[in-house]
Amino acid sequence: MPQGPSSTREIPEIGSIPRHIAIIMDGNGRWARNRFMPRVAGHQQGVETVRGVIKACIEREIPYLTVFAFSSENWRRPAEEVSYLMQLFTGALEQEITKLHENQIRFKVIGDLSKFEPKIIEFIRAGEQLTAENKRLTFTIAANYGGRWDIMQAMRKMMTQSAELPLNFDEENLARYLSLNYAPEPDLFIRTGGECRISNFLLWQLAYTELYFTDTLWPDFNEHELELAIQSYQQRERRFGRTSEQTRTAMSAKG
Ligand code: IPE
Ligand code: IPE
Ligand code: MG
Repeated sequence: MPQGPSSTREIPEIGSIPRHIAIIMDGNGRWARNRFMPRVAGHQQGVETVRGVIKACIEREIPYLTVFAFSSENWRRPAEEVSYLMQLFTGALEQEITKLHENQIRFKVIGDLSKFEPKIIEFIRAGEQLTAENKRLTFTIAANYGGRWDIMQAMRKMMTQSAELPLNFDEENLARYLSLNYAPEPDLFIRTGGECRISNFLLWQLAYTELYFTDTLWPDFNEHELELAIQSYQQRERRFGRTSEQTRTAMSAKG
């Protein structure tokens, strides 16, 4: 079951520290191009940024971090780049799983893994199992992920697994089958690299997420940049459809 209510059905608990940050890590290619380096050098540097962001989340006691590593549309890139990204992903996993576990991080991968080599899938599942009980941070990588794919696969599972499905099924019926069903909806969404779009990331879960866009390219993103995003988040008034007055009254009633 999702760790928290659906933001379109209930007003979630809001804290000054986001419980869940979701990031589109964009701008690796441009970072490399600016340095007259091949695009893949940007991806390599991007992995370093991920390490730093995980550490910064732990220090801030942010319990969920989800990053978009490869979209279902990224197969459209040159075969060479796709293959490099796959290698980088596998290599990083092999290197990091033990460290993630040592740091009490629960590791998850969401996305359509059917296109991945069986060896990689096995490795991912083993890593997920190894770290399943860790409580400090749930770190999710979205790989071959697409928001529409997620809603479609949830729909398919729901329909095959619940033969008696009522025609008036509701959000909760479906949300149970979404691939991020173990996490609360993101409070804060960050996209680096200057584009202001969602690019088929978490379409369902971002319904009421606060969006933050920065021109900083992903390899240059660091703890300070994360702090700026969190500060921006802290200045937002999350109304969830209510008026500003209602929101403030509700907040002051809570103390
Ligand atoms: C994001 O950086 C990484 C992936 C999509 C895998 P890009 O590779 O999209 O970098 P730009 O947008 O071309 O600079
Ligand atoms: C989105 O970045 C996907 C990832 C970061 C993995 P893209 O760079 O592929 O997005 P578009 O194509 O510019 O929207
Ligand atoms: Mg890009």
